[in-house]
Amino acid sequence: MAKVVITDHTGTQAAAFDSVADESVGSQAQDAGAPIPFSCGVGACRTCVCTVKKGKEYLDRAAIGPQHIDVEEDEILSCICGVKADAPEGVEIELLAENL
Ligand code: FES
Repeated sequence: MAKVVITDHTGTQAAAFDSVADESVGSQAQDAGAPIPFSCGVGACRTCVCTVKKGKEYLDRAAIGPQHIDVEEDEILSCICGVKADAPEGVEIELLAENL
């Protein structure tokens, strides 16, 4: 599936991993060594917010559960956002974790 690169608020790479479709990108990032903070864990705060730098078309904003608050067009809530199951092999998604 898609490769996901996580950068922190300074733009430094914090983790990179091959994504799976059935888990949030935030949880996968945490497992890969980028401890993106979660608070609610259900898409109702902004603690886990990430700016999508690349690959927005391969993300499903509400893959894991419904989004309860509005975010900017280029942002996702990483606790509920997942990679689309049909994302082509080898594509790259880059997320800047604002609170990391
Ligand atoms: S942890 Fe609250 S929206 Fe993700």
